[in-house]
Amino acid sequence: MPVATLITGALEEARQRTLDLVAPLSDADVECAHSALMSPLVWDLAHIAAYEDLWLVHRHGREPLLHPEWAAMYDAFETPRAVRGDLPLLDRPAALAYLDDVRDRALRVLDRTGPGEVHEMVLRHEQQHNETMLQAIELARLGRAPGLAAAPRPSGPGVHTGLEAVEVPGGPFVMGAPPGRFAFDNERPRHRVELPAFRIGRTPVTNATFLRFTEGGGYQRREWWSDEGWSWKEDYDITHPGGWAAGPEGWRQWRVDGWAPLHPAEPVVHLSWFEAGAFARAHRARLPSEPEWEKAAAWDQERGVSRPYPWGDRPPAPGDGRANLDHTGLGPHPAGSLPGGASPCGALGMLGDVWEWTASEFAPYPGFAAHPYREYSEVFFARGYRALRGGSWATRARVASATFRNWDLPQRRQVFAGVRLAWDA
Ligand SMILES: [Fe+2]
Repeated sequence: MPVATLITGALEEARQRTLDLVAPLSDADVECAHSALMSPLVWDLAHIAAYEDLWLVHRHGREPLLHPEWAAMYDAFETPRAVRGDLPLLDRPAALAYLDDVRDRALRVLDRTGPGEVHEMVLRHEQQHNETMLQAIELARLGRAPGLAAAPRPSGPGVHTGLEAVEVPGGPFVMGAPPGRFAFDNERPRHRVELPAFRIGRTPVTNATFLRFTEGGGYQRREWWSDEGWSWKEDYDITHPGGWAAGPEGWRQWRVDGWAPLHPAEPVVHLSWFEAGAFARAHRARLPSEPEWEKAAAWDQERGVSRPYPWGDRPPAPGDGRANLDHTGLGPHPAGSLPGGASPCGALGMLGDVWEWTASEFAPYPGFAAHPYREYSEVFFARGYRALRGGSWATRARVASATFRNWDLPQRRQVFAGVRLAWDA
C-alpha cells in the first residue's frame, strides 16, 4: 500500500479515537476547566487542529494558517495549562469544525506533496493528546466512561509483587534511537553508556505491595522521604496514591470509568516521583536511572544490540500478548501477565500498563540537537522534570518504544505512573 494511503488511514484512525473520547461527554464536561493541572478538553481539540494546521498545512504545505488569530491561544508553550480555562476558547461545535477544516486542508496538501516526517510527528501528537485527555477525564471524575471499546479487565490473583528482581550484567550498551526511523529529538543521538551490573524489578510494583506500605505507616516514616517529598506530602496531606479511598468494604480506586475495588495484582498507578522514591527507600531499593531502565528494556547482551522493543524488532499490536497499550481495558493489566513482552533480561511489562518514574532528571543526551522545534524537549531540560519510561495502558502502541522519553514534575500524580524498583548488584 502507498505510504500516503497508510498515513491517511492512520490519521483517520487517530481522529476517530479523539472524537470517540469526548463523544459521551456533555458540552459542559468538554468545555469546563476541571483542574488547573489539565486543559479543558475543548482546548485539546482545537490545539490538535492548530498543531496540524501549523505543521502539515503551513510549514510542510507552505500555505497560510487557516486561523492565524487563534495561533497563540492554542500554542502549548505560549498558553500554559493553568490559564487555558480563563480564555475565550472555541465551544465544542466550533472546535470540532476546526478539526474537520484543517484535516481537509492537510489531506489536500498530502495529495500534492506526499508524506514527510512531519506527518508521523503530527499523528503521534494527536495520539499523545489522547492520553492527556484520558488523564483529564479521570481527574474530572465525570463518572462517564470515555467512548472507547474496552475489553474486560483480566482478574485473578497475581504471581508478582514488584519486589522480585532480574539481573542486568555490567558493561556497555547502546542508548537512544537509531537513525533511519522516526524518533523525537530527545531520543537522539544514539550513544554508548557503560553501566555497572544492577538488578531491576521483574515487574512494576503492584497495588497489594503498595497497600502494605500505605497501611504499614509508609506515609508517616520521615526517614523514607526526601526533604522536598516530605514537605509536599505534608502540605497536601497525602496519605495514599492518587484516586484511592478506604471504605467499609476495603480500598477502592477511582478509574477513568468510575469506582472499582482496588485490584491487588495490578501495578500501582498515580504515584508522584516523591512517593515512588519513598517506597523504594522503604524497601532498601532505589529508582532505576534512565540508562538502567533502557538497558533492562532493550539491551540484547548476546547479540550486542539494542532492540527497538523489549521483545524484539516488531512494533506492538493490540492483542498480540506483548504489551497492554492502546487502552484495551481502560486500566492496567495484572503485573507480569504478558510473558510474551519479556525483555532480554526477563523484565516484564516494560511497555504499557503504567509509566515508570526514573531517578533521572530529564536532560539532553550528549550531542543533542533540537528538531524540529525547541519547545518539544529543549525548554524542559534541566528544570527539575523527572524522566518517565515505558508508556501506560492509555499510550498508543505507535508512540511507545524502548527509547521513548516522557517527563513531568516530581509532585505530579495525574500521569498514569507507577514504580519499578532497582538495586545495586
Ligand atoms: Fe500538544
